[in-house]
Amino acid sequence: MWTPSTQGTVEENYAHMVCVIKDQLRSEPDVIANLATVTALITAYMDRLNWVGFYILRGDQLVVGPYQGKPACIRIPMGKGVCGTAAQQQRTIRVEDVHDFPGHIACDADSRSEIVLPLYAKGRVYGVLDIDSPEPGRFTPLEETTLQRVADAINEIL
Ligand code: SME
Repeated sequence: MWTPSTQGTVEENYAHMVCVIKDQLRSEPDVIANLATVTALITAYMDRLNWVGFYILRGDQLVVGPYQGKPACIRIPMGKGVCGTAAQQQRTIRVEDVHDFPGHIACDADSRSEIVLPLYAKGRVYGVLDIDSPEPGRFTPLEETTLQRVADAINEIL
């Protein structure tokens, strides 16, 4: 189904990851199967991560969706934590050090940096893609650009 390629440069590996994810989304119509597989592919291609997953907006709360990592908070109110803030403000948030983000919700005490990208279905917030790392400052503009390409591909199938 996919060939992991982590032999090249970081840029090459990320480009390969985006291609594999796009192929996956094109070939399978089931949204849950796709979101679950995207978490597995990001985990396979990006190192130094401890949590990769989705929160889906249900009413005024984000409810945890497919993920890889330790058991996490099930529900996050809109506007709370990094996830709720990114969803409410409809913008990507990159947190260099979670200790410096007021209101950060610590699901896994190992998490030190985080990136959250909003997802949209028919012009409305569908949920977020949330990725945590045990390393401060793990997410650079390269990770943000790459993950935005992943989010854009997901938005196309929602
Ligand atoms: N840290 C997130 C909560 C979700 S966990 O990281 C999986 C937040 O502040 O929204």
